Amino acid sequence: MNILVTGGAGYIGSHTCVELLNNNHNVIVVDNLSNSKKEAINRVEAITNKKVKFYEIDILDKRGLDLVFKSNTIDAVIHFAGLKAVGESVEEPLKYYQNNITGTLVLMDIMKRHNVKKIVFSSSATVYGMNNVSPLTEELPLSTTNPYGTTKMYIERIIRDTYQADNEWSGTLLRYFNPIGAHHSGTIGEDPKGVPNNLMPFITQVAVGKREKLSVFGNDYDTHDGTGVRDYIHVVDLAKGHLKALEFTMKNKTIEAINLGTGVGYSVLDMVDTFRVATNTKVPYQIIDRRPGDIATCFADTKKAKELLDWETEKNLADMCRDSWRWQSDNPEGY
Ligand code: NAD
Ligand code: UFG
Repeated sequence: MNILVTGGAGYIGSHTCVELLNNNHNVIVVDNLSNSKKEAINRVEAITNKKVKFYEIDILDKRGLDLVFKSNTIDAVIHFAGLKAVGESVEEPLKYYQNNITGTLVLMDIMKRHNVKKIVFSSSATVYGMNNVSPLTEELPLSTTNPYGTTKMYIERIIRDTYQADNEWSGTLLRYFNPIGAHHSGTIGEDPKGVPNNLMPFITQVAVGKREKLSVFGNDYDTHDGTGVRDYIHVVDLAKGHLKALEFTMKNKTIEAINLGTGVGYSVLDMVDTFRVATNTKVPYQIIDRRPGDIATCFADTKKAKELLDWETEKNLADMCRDSWRWQSDNPEGY
């Protein structure tokens, strides 16, 4: 099939492009490179020995996007493009609503005009809000604590409403838990700008000597060691989940929200320890105050993904640590 991947130069998008190409799909990427580099696409091509059709276009650019649809026969869209920094979204909500929500409206309007009505969307476990009832199941009520999360919740709603009005649409709303790791080649991976917000890139930057020590945000949570517990998922497992979701979306005229996680939670200190053993490196850390907005525990109920997508994760936490480390140590400055 011909798949349009918005945000395909980004962390999860680039890994998904590899899986799509390896499964003989043609890949067309639209990315404005606001949080990524073109080099990621070159490396996807090197890994797969296949070509990607790349357009440096903003999804808010109606005319540009229209041209992409006019020049290519597109069967379905995997929609990753979006801004994702929780803290920044609190400071600049309009930027987030404009980019993520208006961007999706523009994209879906152009899709409709060209009669492309299949979409796989990057949602997030953040739509479960402060709901502290892990394992989190898809039918839980949604709530959010920051504008980033609200964009995900609204976009899910927009896709559902579009289907309600026209049952020719179908869509899968993938709620990711905590993606980490990298392609085993070590040539593509997560390349955060500035100080990383997320745990794993912070750990790898400490291990490579770019940062002095990790700050652990609180050790007084109600968890086995007091530190926050999350469901870390290898980005390659996640990327494979998109292929399954794509198959499902092509076959079924419905909208389904589906968790993509492992179903197992690890604490911050479990992460530090597994990383140390798996990579034989040291990660000095200090305990500091809790980060506002964090919850104690968040992990997925994975039954729906198994049942509807026939998908399960294959990689364990040590694999994730080793692969994150290979990417970081081979590319200490990123792309
Ligand atoms: P990323 O920033 O690496 O990738 C997003 C890509 O979208 C970037 O290449 C960026 O340049 C592009 N982009 C942003 N706005 C755009 C626009 N207006 N037009 C065109 N391109 C645009 O992020 P990622 O980690 O790969 O995340 C991909 C998606 O998954 C995002 O929607 C994100 O919100 C969602 N998600 C990520 C996580 C995570 O922890 N990484 C968790 C849950 C959900
Ligand atoms: N943590 C630290 N120190 C750090 C960074 C994180 O102790 O420097 C802790 C956090 O307190 C949390 C755990 O490590 O307990 C994971 O934190 P991340 O920031 O890596 O991930 P979150 O679960 O907080 O957030 C992620 C995504 C968000 C998304 C959210 C819910 O980054 O975009 O999952 O799905 F909204």
